[in-house]
Amino acid sequence: MARILVTGGTGHLGRLVVPRLVRTGADVRVVSRSPHAEGDGARYVVADWATGEGLAQAVGDAEVVVHLAGDQLHNEPMATALVRAVRDAGAEPHLVNISVVGAEKVPVRSGFDRRALGYMESKLAQERVLEESGIPWSNLRASQFHELVLIAARALAKLPVVPTPSGWRAQPIAADEVAARLVELALGDPQGRVPDVAGPEVLTFRGMVRDYLDAVGSRRPTMPVRVPGAASRAYAAGGNLAPDRAVGKQTWGEFLAEHVEHR
Ligand SMILES: NC(=O)c1ccc[n+]([C@@H]2O[C@H](COP(=O)([O-])OP(=O)(O)OC[C@H]3O[C@@H](n4cnc5c(N)ncnc54)[C@H](OP(=O)(O)O)[C@@H]3O)[C@@H](O)[C@H]2O)c1
Repeated sequence: MARILVTGGTGHLGRLVVPRLVRTGADVRVVSRSPHAEGDGARYVVADWATGEGLAQAVGDAEVVVHLAGDQLHNEPMATALVRAVRDAGAEPHLVNISVVGAEKVPVRSGFDRRALGYMESKLAQERVLEESGIPWSNLRASQFHELVLIAARALAKLPVVPTPSGWRAQPIAADEVAARLVELALGDPQGRVPDVAGPEVLTFRGMVRDYLDAVGSRRPTMPVRVPGAASRAYAAGGNLAPDRAVGKQTWGEFLAEHVEHR
């Protein structure tokens, strides 16, 4: 029975990865910042990423660590904490990491860039920590999840006129399809960087927000807004896209039909 630790197992992606791993018969442990009720076949352990307390115990004797925990800007220190925990535990796991398509193509050139769009740079720094750690790894870059676009569309749609960043495009993919690929990687040997996975269509951000408004039956107007900075220009230039890796199956429209109710 494979012993697998999942970081970020409580997040959007993690909640799809964990049950898939449990169904393989693996012994699945999830590390979280707060206690969680068990019952989904995984064991939950608490750790503090800032101090490192509990992380090495969470790693324990894991054979595989699937690293999904992350946020906008702290991905590098979290990767550093994880590598330290693996060393402290004396473990030799296969580290499976999730990153993002185009991580090296969205540069941060100003404080505004970093605050608004520093995520890509933060993921790139995370990748470097893991690659240089000496721990055997596999790294999958995925494009934006449908779920993330939906969260953004819902938040923007609360405004009377819905702002949409001019020129931005995305290639959204179902997080569950990414979860399936991560499980495949977790059950295999370390492969280093593997081919990216991206959604089946390249769509404008404005078009996706319009699709959302139509799906919920909202007539609110959209208004293109120019987001300044190098990172925004990189989005407009398609730095976050991988049209040659459009392997995702579920379209944005199909996802909306499943997840959104017409009012
Ligand atoms: N969303 C996307 O479109 C997308 C695309 C490509 C790659 N990814 C990557 O996929 C991974 C999972 O994404 P997701 O959307 O599922 O993320 P999520 O739901 O926002 O968060 C994942 C988990 O990370 C932990 N976490 C969040 N902030 C933290 C912090 N500051 N310190 C320590 N732990 C923290 C939380 O677990 P606890 O609260 O239980 O500690 C959370 O449940 C991330 O690495 C993300 O970069 C996402």
